[in-house]
Amino acid sequence: MSLHQPKILVIMGSVRSGRRCPQIADLVMSAAEAAGRLTPELIDLKEWPLPADDEPEIPAKGDYKREHTRAWSAKVAEAEGFVLVSPQYNWGYPAPLKNALDHLSKEWRGKPVAIVTYGGHGGGKCASQLLQLADAFKMRPTVTAPAISVPRESIESGAPMAPDALEAYRPAVAQALGELADLIAAA
Ligand SMILES: Cc1cc2nc3c(=O)[nH]c(=O)nc-3n(C[C@H](O)[C@H](O)[C@H](O)COP(=O)(O)O)c2cc1C
Repeated sequence: MSLHQPKILVIMGSVRSGRRCPQIADLVMSAAEAAGRLTPELIDLKEWPLPADDEPEIPAKGDYKREHTRAWSAKVAEAEGFVLVSPQYNWGYPAPLKNALDHLSKEWRGKPVAIVTYGGHGGGKCASQLLQLADAFKMRPTVTAPAISVPRESIESGAPMAPDALEAYRPAVAQALGELADLIAAA
């Protein structure tokens, strides 16, 4: 058995005040830690301010002028795979997640990715958009893409999901993480 536990980034797609994202990301982190095949690091995009207008070159060149872009590049480059934890916003995914993805190019390229979405109906339309983006970067997505349905009353009140309701998705999340570890191992 290999002792190498590849580093993955679990990226929270929401930076919204009062966001639910940390609750969903906690499930991903605890499932990854329980499985023991990966070394997950939680990424909060709130801690990675990446202005959309201050890099003069296109990201595909990798010729970054700003220190924050270089730091983001190094962080993403060191990972062997990713979990994108994203809410569905108006049938898509949040602008800060798009911005963080668009800031780089080769750092994502060809790497495995698991997409975990949530929303009123599980966030399937957001997952479709993220799959298109993964295709653009020639990333290798897991077959399993957990889509967590947030109850309407929880969306409207802003209250966290009931723990039991969220726990019901743990097997699907564990399955996606297992597939992610397999894809990384197969590289
Ligand atoms: C701007 C915005 C747009 C939304 N659009 C959708 C949507 O299209 N479909 C859906 O099922 N839920 C939608 N929702 C509900 C969110 O999926 C739900 O509130 C989720 O908890 C938001 O994630 P966050 O709290 O981590 O930011 C939307 C919420 C926001 C804030």
